[in-house]
Amino acid sequence: MKEITFDEHAKEVLQILQKGAFLTTHADGKTNTMTIGWGYLGYSWRKPVFGVMVRHNRYTHQLLDKNPQFTITLPKEDLSKELAFCGTKCGADTDKIAACGFSLLPGQSVSVPLIACKAIQYECKVLCKTEMQAPLLDGAVREQWYEKMPNDYHTFYFGEITASYITD
Ligand SMILES: Cc1cc2nc3c(=O)[nH]c(=O)nc-3n(C[C@H](O)[C@H](O)[C@H](O)COP(=O)(O)O)c2cc1C
Repeated sequence: MKEITFDEHAKEVLQILQKGAFLTTHADGKTNTMTIGWGYLGYSWRKPVFGVMVRHNRYTHQLLDKNPQFTITLPKEDLSKELAFCGTKCGADTDKIAACGFSLLPGQSVSVPLIACKAIQYECKVLCKTEMQAPLLDGAVREQWYEKMPNDYHTFYFGEITASYITD
């Protein structure tokens, strides 16, 4: 494991994110992971921040509300099958970690583990949670992404990056 500054691999982080990354959460003794494709690496409140967008109907949403901490695993190896699986199955019915055969690494600064693989890893504590408001949304974006699922808007969770490192 090699520690990195939060922004050291920013370009690579955003490139990997567009192909898919794992957002892992843990509450009530259950660990779950889901695939994300949208997110933000930034700097707010004089802190390094990773922002994620999670729809209300995701099991991840429930876990994040119970324990507002998460980890992000940006794979540097081909885990496309696992990303597709974790991006379509719901953790409420399926133990996705076991089904994918993932090993977990303990979080160093959070109570949420990380997926063990060749990856850029972030540990985050939620600093701000904000609901997307339909009237404030660009009309074309609303039509494209929310028309078929009204009332299933995203919640933004902005997490302070409390540790960042590369695993092999
Ligand atoms: C490539 C890809 C990217 C995705 N990005 C997001 C995202 O950013 N936010 C979100 O809410 N769902 C996203 N999803 C859908 C969730 O991963 C999917 O609904 C998952 O089954 C939710 O799991 P959960 O119910 O265990 O939380 C994405 C799916 C894929 C395949």
